[in-house]
Amino acid sequence: MQLRDTVLSIPEWEALIHRAEVGEVTEPLENVDHDDPSPYDAIFVGGGAGGRFGSAYLRARGGRQLVIDKWPFLGGSCPHQACVPHHLFSEAAREMDYMRWNSGTLWFGEFDEKRASIRDLVDLFKSGRNNAHAFMNWQSKEQLGMEYVLNAPATVVDAHTVEVAGRRYTTRSLVLGTGARTDVPPIPGIHLPGVFDFASLIEELNYEPSRCVIIGGSKIALEYGSFFQATGCQTTILSRSKLMRTASLHHVDEDLRTYVVDGMLKRGVEIHEGAEPIEVVGDGSVTGVRARLADGTETTIDTDFVFIGTGERPDARPYVTALGVDLDDRGFVKVDARMRTSVPDVYAIGDLIGAPMEMFKARKCGMTAARNIMGEPYEFDFSEYPDFLHTTYEVTWVGLTEAEARDRYDDVVVIQMPPKGLVDEIALPCAEGSMLYAFTRPELTGFQKAVYDGRSRRLLGAHHVGFGAKDAFQYLDHLIRKGITIDEMGEMNELFLNPDHFIQLSRLRAGNNDLVDL
Ligand SMILES: Cc1cc2nc3c(=O)[nH]c(=O)nc-3n(C[C@H](O)[C@H](O)[C@H](O)COP(=O)(O)OP(=O)(O)OC[C@H]3O[C@@H](n4cnc5c(N)ncnc54)[C@H](O)[C@@H]3O)c2cc1C
Ligand SMILES: NC(=O)c1ccc[n+]([C@@H]2O[C@H](COP(=O)([O-])OP(=O)(O)OC[C@H]3O[C@@H](n4cnc5c(N)ncnc54)[C@H](OP(=O)(O)O)[C@@H]3O)[C@@H](O)[C@H]2O)c1
Repeated sequence: MQLRDTVLSIPEWEALIHRAEVGEVTEPLENVDHDDPSPYDAIFVGGGAGGRFGSAYLRARGGRQLVIDKWPFLGGSCPHQACVPHHLFSEAAREMDYMRWNSGTLWFGEFDEKRASIRDLVDLFKSGRNNAHAFMNWQSKEQLGMEYVLNAPATVVDAHTVEVAGRRYTTRSLVLGTGARTDVPPIPGIHLPGVFDFASLIEELNYEPSRCVIIGGSKIALEYGSFFQATGCQTTILSRSKLMRTASLHHVDEDLRTYVVDGMLKRGVEIHEGAEPIEVVGDGSVTGVRARLADGTETTIDTDFVFIGTGERPDARPYVTALGVDLDDRGFVKVDARMRTSVPDVYAIGDLIGAPMEMFKARKCGMTAARNIMGEPYEFDFSEYPDFLHTTYEVTWVGLTEAEARDRYDDVVVIQMPPKGLVDEIALPCAEGSMLYAFTRPELTGFQKAVYDGRSRRLLGAHHVGFGAKDAFQYLDHLIRKGITIDEMGEMNELFLNPDHFIQLSRLRAGNNDLVDL
């Protein structure tokens, strides 16, 4: 379908995407300027976060791009199956948690578990997700001037040629950004009906789970586990490592971790750390999970719903076959700091190149490739970044943990709320978003910690459990890189009352020549 000379409204895009998703439209959706004889500077294979932002940046630098996606929309997995549903579920979990803890008090009615349905939320998401997809197709064409072919898989022929929908396109550079998918563990029974991951949960759930077992101990396990538990679906997490102590997460402070895990236990989530799933058992569909627990005993947990959060891997085989790109030992495409692969003129971006698998990295990888393709040597170092996950709280961190700081510095100062030793005695932090908890259930009011180097007075790390502080952490990341000191923190103007109390708490100590904990 040629769309080059047609301006579709957002509702028209939405309807078209829907028809493509249900198989009524099978032809490619083409927005390509076939009259333009100039060569492409880059073809982006995959129009997810990396491909779309890379395309936008290349256009902004005056280049010509083509982005190709097998799905009928740009934006990729984040708005379709990953981040956006996860945030909907996490927000719903926060609300349900709030309702439960306050059930029957003040103006709150009795919490009615029958109305808290996983399936309803999944269906709600599915009924609305194409609106964002439609917007991205519209914006990419009408505002960002991108060329694209959608609803058609691309085949890489060589470093300068891509085939899509029966036509070959040539390009100066190629950018690979086809993402990753769940790395399904080789456990007997794992393919039984009733076993889901984040993608199949959205596409295939057709019953209301009554009991859940999660395999994994990182972001997906904590986020989805918290949501399932909040709906009343009793959830057990089987994690090989300690929760949040998985290889993929860095800079997790132990006090923050303890607060998070305790909070999940208080809400009734069953947690087995050091557990090894042995088999998913079933009779046509899942009926249980057999696991070896940390003490060596074997147990079978009855369940009608297994959820896998065991990380993601790409399928990079087509690029090895067509191009001979080098992969790392886990199958991710190897790149340098400019996103260049081992093959000249071929770049790779986003989840395809491995951790961290986060939107900021995917988008900035695309931008980095675009800058280099347009002649600007530009390097992207993503070894340090602010990070987060959700339980029924927002859990946010950046920089060094207290333990990491103590390993590297000999005068570490910790400013935290509640202060060490007073955790059970005061209803603080009493912050934006946790006020009602502070007065009804003080132990649920959150946790915050700032770590300073006492000598240079510089902020080394910040750690937060609560609501609404994620935004601040985007800027704290920048300020830590710039070397902000406790005195400069104290100079800032807070908007009291706020989600994190780092400014005012820092000011209380900023006047001291010899910094001490607070
Ligand atoms: C459950 C979950 C929740 C997440 N939540 C967050 C979050 O809250 N915040 C955050 O920062 N990150 C989050 N992430 C990570 C984030 O979703 C990814 O890092 C990001 O989407 C990666 O972007 P990408 O462009 O590399 O890949 P993708 O967005 O996956 O895009 C790849 C694209 O390539 C296309 N494609 C594949 N093969 C072909 C082909 N042969 N031809 C044409 N097109 C093809 C696909 O259709 C897809 O559109 C989450 C991930 C998961 C799994
Ligand atoms: N920003 C966000 O909010 C957000 C949300 C969700 C997902 N994401 C991204 O999406 C990606 C996927 O998330 P994820 O939580 O699934 O992956 P992850 O962070 O890679 O963690 C994988 C988990 O599965 C465990 N595991 C791996 N293989 C296993 C096996 N064979 N048997 C048992 N356990 C196994 C790991 O344990 P070990 O540590 O012991 O190996 C670990 O706990 C991540 O890169 C993440 O950054 C981001």
